[in-house]
Amino acid sequence: MNIRCAKPDDLMNMQHCNLLCLPENYQMKYYFYHGLSWPQLSYVAEDEKGQIVGYVLAKMEEDSEDNPHGHITSLAVKRSHRRLGLAQKLMDQASRAMVECFNAKYVSLHVRKSNRAALNLYTTTLKFTISEIEPKYYADGEDAYAMKRDLSSFAVQLNQTSDSNTVIDHKNSDEHKKIISERL
Ligand SMILES: CC(C)(COP(=O)(O)OP(=O)(O)OC[C@H]1O[C@@H](n2cnc3c(N)ncnc32)[C@H](O)[C@@H]1OP(=O)(O)O)[C@@H](O)C(=O)NCCC(=O)NCCS
Repeated sequence: MNIRCAKPDDLMNMQHCNLLCLPENYQMKYYFYHGLSWPQLSYVAEDEKGQIVGYVLAKMEEDSEDNPHGHITSLAVKRSHRRLGLAQKLMDQASRAMVECFNAKYVSLHVRKSNRAALNLYTTTLKFTISEIEPKYYADGEDAYAMKRDLSSFAVQLNQTSDSNTVIDHKNSDEHKKIISERL
């Protein structure tokens, strides 16, 4: 099993996995919006044959320059590959990239109140906390928990491994521009 950054070629297979696993579905253009705007943040899990068995679709929230934070738009792992730690790894990779590339302070998401597996993953394994309840957030009228995870431990890890004090504006860095132009 391999976890890697999602490429434009993966987006249709991510949508396919989403359709198999979740009632919240998106048009293809929404996947492209993520892939082209934040190419560093979405990840896939692939099996030995290179087939996508899980994904995390992630973005930065664009409303807050002074308190940058990421958002998980969608996460799913195919039934055949659950309880192998893939969702945990996908979430950690996306979160680390949010810190590394955009200096994110925290990551947010929504989850159905009834989604026991995801709630357990978020609270027990990943240490998200509930920030509020959003009544009737979902199309069928179910409430959502809005959740947040502080990302300062990733920032500490990154500072320990990088040449500290050098603040890199990844969004405007040559590397970022190269990734964007390659993907276009
Ligand atoms: C939620 C989901 C993404 C978890 O994926 P996964 O790869 O199986 O999760 P992991 O193997 O990384 O699980 C890590 C931990 O999360 C918790 N967890 C995961 N699935 C669980 C379940 N069915 N019941 C209870 N706890 C669960 C456990 O604590 C688990 O650790 P453990 O296996 O050592 O006990 C997967 O079940 C899924 O795709 N569900 C349908 C889509 C969905 O609900 N997405 C989230 C929308 S907000």
